[in-house]
This record gives sequence, C-alpha cells and structure tokens, in this order.
Amino acid sequence: MRVVRTIADLRAELASARAGSIGLVPTMGAFHEGHVSLFRAARAECDTVVVSLFVNPAQFGAGEDLARYPRDEAGDRRLAEQARVDVLFAPAAEELYPPGYQTWVEVEELSRPLEGVHRPGHFRGVATVCLKLFTIVRPNRAYFGQKDAQQVAVVRQMLRDLHLELELRVLPTVRDADGLALSSRNAYLSEEERERARALPRALATRDPARARALLDGLEVEYVEVADFDPRVLAAAVRVGSTRLIDNVTLEGDE
Ligand code: PAJ
Repeated sequence: MRVVRTIADLRAELASARAGSIGLVPTMGAFHEGHVSLFRAARAECDTVVVSLFVNPAQFGAGEDLARYPRDEAGDRRLAEQARVDVLFAPAAEELYPPGYQTWVEVEELSRPLEGVHRPGHFRGVATVCLKLFTIVRPNRAYFGQKDAQQVAVVRQMLRDLHLELELRVLPTVRDADGLALSSRNAYLSEEERERARALPRALATRDPARARALLDGLEVEYVEVADFDPRVLAAAVRVGSTRLIDNVTLEGDE
C-alpha cells in the first residue's frame, strides 16, 4: 500500500490505474469494521482501491469535536493494508484548503432537516470535500455506509445535480454484538455511557417513531424521525454525556 500526501502524487500514482476501474472510500480515519466493510467491497469490485483519510475541518461546526476527533494513522495504515487497499490518500488540511480557498457545494433541501438542524453547515463541508475527492481521484465507484443515511442522500443528489459519472455504492451498517452501530466516536464513551447508548439501536429496532421515542426516554434526544430517503429510514441522534451518536434503520427494502 502506498501512502500519498499530495494531490500531485496521487494523480501520478493513479495515472497507470485508469485503464482499469478505481474505487474510492472516503473516510476520516480511526478505522473500525464499518470502514473495513467498505474497503472489502471496493476490493472485490475494483482493480484499484483508494482510501482517503482526512478529518475534514469544513464539516465540523464551532464547538464540535474537530480537535479531539480520534486519530490513529499507524493503526489505520495496518487495517487498510490488511484489507489490501492500494493507496491511502492522507493529505494535510492545507492541501485541500489552501489559503484563499473559497468554493463550496451546497445541496440545499436535503441538507436542511435532521442533522442539518443540529449541525448547520455540516453537509456543505461534506459535499464540498466529497466533490473534491471525486474530482481528484476520478473513481468509477465510491463507497459509503448506510450508517450516515442523510450523507448518502446528500451525496447522491450532488452526483445527479452535477452530472458526475460515478457509481454510488452503499453498504449496510455494521454493528457491535450489543447492537450499537460502530462509530469512531464510540471511543469517547465510558462503560456506563455505552450501556446507556445501547438504548439507541434498541429504540430504532422497533421501526416505530413513537415507540422509539418512549424507549429513548432519559437520553438527550435531538431527533427521532422517519426520513424519506432512498430507502426510507427511521433516523435518530442522541447525546450520551458529551458524545453525539446517530443511527438509523431502513424501513423498506434490504439494508
Ligand atoms: P467517517 O465517519 O470516517 O465514515 C467513512 C464512511 O464509513 C462513511 O461512508 C460512513 O457512513 C461509513 N461508516 C461509518 N460507520 C459505519 C458502520 N458502522 N457501518 C458501515 N459503514 C460505516 O462519513 C465520513 O467519514 C465523512 O463525512 C466523509 C464522507 C469521509 C467526508 O469527510
């Protein structure tokens, strides 16, 4: 696996790969089995697998966890290498947002509800960095997790609106044995908080907003709502201590 830090080096690295198919998995690192499931899918379907590792400052609001977001590049390198990733693209922030940077992508309607209410500007940062990665890597397929259902909806709309020729592949949410969806942010939870966090998957498993709300009683709930994405989901965000967790279950079709 090659670790590449600059756009120029990445382009050079991929020049000879363009004869075959290229798969991109965008990530912010602190890899777990959810990330690895995307690497495996890309490995099975593409000739060259690129994983980006970039904690994107543009998608964090003031007062959010940018500074303390878990970072473990050595561990991430090992996991990516084990999954036979070909290229790990891990640029510095200034490589993607040099001084004077001023262009942003706004997917207007889909960015507004749910996460958009509680994290204003979040999806503008996500859409912008994804478009940048898509134009730098020019993958045939990009891999995302259903765990972030609204993110998938926003990226899908951007692909359509900007006529990007790229296949969006969405993989099911990977969960721990206790039902909690794997997330880099689970590392913030104390044992006692983790115990309380288990209410989130249990509540969503009812697939019923009213029953889910009742089961989340006692946690700090930001929203529990049915969202008309493709597929439709019951989605929720809760705070457990200082940690914000999101999860969803699909209401129709296969996960
Ligand atoms: P990150 O949170 O690192 O997630 C990278 C990808 O892994 C996303 O597509 C996410 O949905 C997926 N993922 C996370 N947890 C998962 C789980 N338990 N099961 C399956 N897939 C899971 O999402 C981001 O980074 C960023 O917003 C990014 C798209 C990289 C843009 O900065």
